[in-house]
Amino acid sequence: MLPTIAWRGQSVIMIDQRKLPGQEVYVRCRTYIQVAQAIEKMVIRGAPAIGVAAAYGLVLGVMTMRAETARSLEADFERIYRRLERTRPTARNLFWALERMRAAYEANRGAGLRAMKRALLEEAKAIEREDAETNRLIGVHGRDVITDGATVLTHCNAGALATAAYGTALGVVRAAVGQGKKVRVFADETRPFLQGARLTVWELRQDDIPVVLVTDNMAGWLMHRGEISVVIVGADRIARNGDTANKIGTYSVAVLAKENGVPFYVAAPMSTVDAALADGSAIPIEERKPEEVREAGGRLITLPDVEVRNPAFDVTPARYIRGIITERGLSRPPFSFGVGPQ
Ligand code: MRU
Repeated sequence: MLPTIAWRGQSVIMIDQRKLPGQEVYVRCRTYIQVAQAIEKMVIRGAPAIGVAAAYGLVLGVMTMRAETARSLEADFERIYRRLERTRPTARNLFWALERMRAAYEANRGAGLRAMKRALLEEAKAIEREDAETNRLIGVHGRDVITDGATVLTHCNAGALATAAYGTALGVVRAAVGQGKKVRVFADETRPFLQGARLTVWELRQDDIPVVLVTDNMAGWLMHRGEISVVIVGADRIARNGDTANKIGTYSVAVLAKENGVPFYVAAPMSTVDAALADGSAIPIEERKPEEVREAGGRLITLPDVEVRNPAFDVTPARYIRGIITERGLSRPPFSFGVGPQ
């Protein structure tokens, strides 16, 4: 399986997702600041992968701190935690992973610095391992929404590159292919960062899964023509009622899917659910720098000073979603995540 992120020695390595598919190069982070910057610059991206990276970032921060007293340890931990937390606001998994790391830190406070460092590394490794296992379960629970011969439209990259391994939306595709079904994936290119064109296409090719690249504005027409059997996307944050934040453009795909009678599914781990939010209206939406829109592939495509909006995510209201696939199963509307057993 594709190596997205791994702990090696006293460092974290990640495949540089800004360079794919042209170059397969790895970035090595030795400090928590380097990890925070890697998340901000999207060397690593995708909600679950960001969570794993932040957990390892916290380990690096704690490993390199010299804290001589309990009080300075406390202050250092807070500083590292806050820096990592500030990297990307929308992905719930980032905060979920950091909260888990804080719980491990608190549980091992009395054990001495060495034991605590070991415990934090074990916790980060567990987060990585569990994410890979979770995605395989999502695949098992979701694979029957894909029939033999289906064409699956996906948006952004919700694959192995966006997670510890296997992927969420693409995990469902992998599981269906694993059943022997013939599946063709239509990948939206996903302006402006082009995760679909650069990452989803590359990743599916590695597994010999047939993939067709389309620009974002083609999806509606292809659905209208009956060329898409089902839409499956990932998620960055899911509110209790099922409203789902995902890569900008997902909302348009969902509305067009409903209009054309194409089932629209979300695949995500429970760590993406934000049980504190009743609906999607309070989900923080990251605004990224204008250059991402003014440029394509690093080249200016408009006036250098044109005003730009660049919200990186949108929220798809639950009424457009036919089902949400998690490691617990396939939930149908009305959704009530975080309220009792799913
Ligand atoms: O800005 P990105 O590339 O981090 O956004 C990623 C997405 O929107 C993915 O679809 C989402 O995180 C799900 S990944 C399993």
